[in-house]
Amino acid sequence: ISLKAYNTFGIDVMASFFAEVESKEDILEALNFAKSKMKPILILGGGSNVLFTENLDALVLKVNILGIKEIKTNDKTVLIEAGSGVIWHELVLYSLDKGLSGIENLSLIPGTVGAAPMQNIGAYGVEIKAVFHSLEAIEISTGLIKTFLPSEVRFGYRESVFKTSLKGKYIICKVSFNLSKIHTPNISYGDIQTVLDQMGHTTATAQNISKAIISIRQSKLPDPKEIGNAGSFFKNPVIPASDFDNLKLKFPALPGYPNASQVKVPAAWLIENTGWKGKQIGEVGVHKKQPLVLVNYGNGKGEEILDLSHQIQMDVLSKFGISLEREVNVVNFENLINV
Ligand code: EPU
Repeated sequence: ISLKAYNTFGIDVMASFFAEVESKEDILEALNFAKSKMKPILILGGGSNVLFTENLDALVLKVNILGIKEIKTNDKTVLIEAGSGVIWHELVLYSLDKGLSGIENLSLIPGTVGAAPMQNIGAYGVEIKAVFHSLEAIEISTGLIKTFLPSEVRFGYRESVFKTSLKGKYIICKVSFNLSKIHTPNISYGDIQTVLDQMGHTTATAQNISKAIISIRQSKLPDPKEIGNAGSFFKNPVIPASDFDNLKLKFPALPGYPNASQVKVPAAWLIENTGWKGKQIGEVGVHKKQPLVLVNYGNGKGEEILDLSHQIQMDVLSKFGISLEREVNVVNFENLINV
């Protein structure tokens, strides 16, 4: 089947086998099927952080484990458990509806609950790490279920153990979050306050922050339903403070945000200042309003997007001496999971 509808870049590649799995039992059955056919597998959530570069002679598992429930509650917090197939933003809406807070800044992030901890999704000053309680995952090699606590997930900036040492080893089934009954607004990032003011919201309730963030995202980020994309294509580089100081002498306008003893530099600025913002090459290009986002205008190929990303990386490296690291996962036959 074509995977075009299953990736937000809208890349048209074919998979030989495809299964939607709705439970742990379904996953085990699918794993057995892949074994019997001697095909590797690909685990897919919302397909919002992948770039397909070729057809896949594999079994694609679209994880569709649903359900959100309250596990326990005390004076201050509620422990919420969600199936890995739940759409992330639906969980945000659920939490707002219940008067809970903690993930309002993560409104409208595409993708599923199961994919969220893998790359420690973050936006507008909040990362999922802050509310994460635990997750349950199936070990692919044994079919056994393991619970992961925060320390075992080893969250970093767009990082977790599932992208490093345990890459391709587990399938996340459920994730639990500690949400708060008492709202502590986090509005220090960028122009949240300005947008709240513009919208006439005098109090920064979780609902209002969510609305402001939705409006900011909609004004900058392309809607995958209209223009194929996978959000930020690169990570924001974190460089030694001394390198930043040197660069600042040459490029006084270079923005930088302290990050532990280092400095995080906006990749969007670097890309814009190599002249790539808004550029189009055939069917693919660099988004006009946010150059960190690469886009597929229609029938672009994964390879074309990858080529474009390499050109950007080369230009940023030669002008600023900074290597941009990819945030999106490139998926080809080579890096599928063997069962
Ligand atoms: N900038 C430019 N030109 C632009 C846009 C931005 O120079 O056209 C510079 C400005 O200096 C601006 C800075 O980049 O202040 C930051 O821009 P923005 O607030 O849009 O955020 P970002 O750093 O580009 C990150 C995340 C986004 C997240 C936003 C908001 C990464 C890789 N990306 O982008 O996450 O939504 O912050 O918190 O960390 C994603 O991961 O897919 C994603 C969209």
